[in-house]
Amino acid sequence: MEWNKPPEIRGRRETERQQFVRATYAQKVEEKREAGDGPAPQLTADDLRAAGSRTIGPEVSGKCVTFCEPSPISWPIFSCGVATAMKSCLICKSAIEPFISFGRMPIANGFLTKEQFAVEPFYELATGFCKTCKMVQLTELVDPDKMFHENYAFFSSTSAGMAAHFESMAKSVKAKYLGPDPFVVEIGSNDGIMLRHFADAGIRHLGVEPSANVAEVARRRGITTISEFFDVNLAKRITAEHGQADAFLGANVMCHIPTLHSVVAGVKMLLKPRGVLVFEDPYLGDIIEKGSYDQIYDEHAFYFSVTSLDHLFAEHELEIIDVASQLTHGGSMRYTVAHRGAWPVTPAVAAQRIKETNLGLSRAETYEQFRRRVETSRDELMALLCKLKADGKRVAAYGATSKSTTVTNYCGITPDIIEYISDTTSIKQNKFSPGAHIPVKPHAEFAKRYPDYALLFAWNHAAEIKAKETAFIESGGRWIVYVPRVEAQS
Ligand code: SAH
Ligand code: TMP
Ligand code: ZN
Repeated sequence: MEWNKPPEIRGRRETERQQFVRATYAQKVEEKREAGDGPAPQLTADDLRAAGSRTIGPEVSGKCVTFCEPSPISWPIFSCGVATAMKSCLICKSAIEPFISFGRMPIANGFLTKEQFAVEPFYELATGFCKTCKMVQLTELVDPDKMFHENYAFFSSTSAGMAAHFESMAKSVKAKYLGPDPFVVEIGSNDGIMLRHFADAGIRHLGVEPSANVAEVARRRGITTISEFFDVNLAKRITAEHGQADAFLGANVMCHIPTLHSVVAGVKMLLKPRGVLVFEDPYLGDIIEKGSYDQIYDEHAFYFSVTSLDHLFAEHELEIIDVASQLTHGGSMRYTVAHRGAWPVTPAVAAQRIKETNLGLSRAETYEQFRRRVETSRDELMALLCKLKADGKRVAAYGATSKSTTVTNYCGITPDIIEYISDTTSIKQNKFSPGAHIPVKPHAEFAKRYPDYALLFAWNHAAEIKAKETAFIESGGRWIVYVPRVEAQS
């Protein structure tokens, strides 16, 4: 059976009203530009009424978001109260060209109830490449408080593999970088999966975690945590209260923060002269090599490489002193950064720059090729799923990951194709997946009656999951994976 769903369900289209509002705002921007510089234009209540909105409220206020401090960027071209469209690079302010769009997309971790379907927010998920500083980034940014709040659905400690990974990261930082009376700061510390190893050792520490529910789990474990968004202003307060830090840590969080200049300025201020920033994020080189487009979603504002980060840190008189590849999240990179000249630079850094050149990370054509590969992957996955359905197979999915929101909405995977998604996170269970509205069920549902096929959305945890799901395979079940290529596996 051919995959022939119409394009409007492969990523939802914006409504007519949104299109009208966007066009009105674009026109205002154009008028401002012709009139010379000035503050960002605002949408008025009249504009919104003309677009047919009866409930204007704060949801749709024309808002200017200036990601300044210390490096201001020019105004966004559109903001609808959910997301802000950007016309220039968040790092160097040059123009950026999108190279792939996934269409209208809901909040990746916005698992919801039936009653919430009518008010579900959407934005345009697309990524662009900056030819000047080589940073790959989203071209429309969802407001942080729409993603990170008291009902945040991602709890780090749901994976035993990740717990072991962060124990080892903490051990390595302790061994290499802590001086006398050490102080450690971690941003995006979530439920304390890494910081607990410092707290348990009696080391002075501070977690900065804006999502209040996960932060509360950390606090209950005895980990000092404040629920705020880290930026240069918070760095000033932390320095005044606690002094400077030996280590500033961040796992899967630096790439989440559009105001990255402000974060790095804060890091610069907070670090002792020999202090280090150690952070890791999904690595652009792996995304390009594996075609893992599902790493692209609202929370991931940036897709880092050594090459692009060099530009960023140079502006703040910091430098990358070490890099190390990680297997986590389908391929990550750990970067260690210090004040310029404070530490020797390991040979791994230059070696990685050469690898990136060979991979073509600085060339626009690489991203065009990536787009073609992603489109092929989508078509192959849908062809396989539709064939299985046509053959009468039962198909479920495993892991209601944030990545799966991109896959389901981009490919058009609906509940008639996937019965449910099994997930161990209680806050996601008995809700529906964002956009595609596939039911999320506890693992017991999966174990009770194995499906014929399970689409492995949590493919980054494949080793851990396959090791504990041997009974599924013994029952004749097969996994479907789509990274690096679409295939059924036993
Ligand atoms: N470090 C954990 C959590 C990663 S999820 C891990 O690797 O498993 C990203 C986390 O960053 C979320 O808990 C989110 O609330 C937090 N976060 C988002 N923006 C932040 C900011 N500006 N400052 C600090 N934390 C932030
Ligand atoms: P992640 O890929 O962003 O880490 O998310 C993994 C999701 O998969 C998370 O919601 C927890 C879920 N999960 C399971 O349901 N079972 C498992 O065995 C593992 C490791 C994760
Ligand atoms: Zn740039």
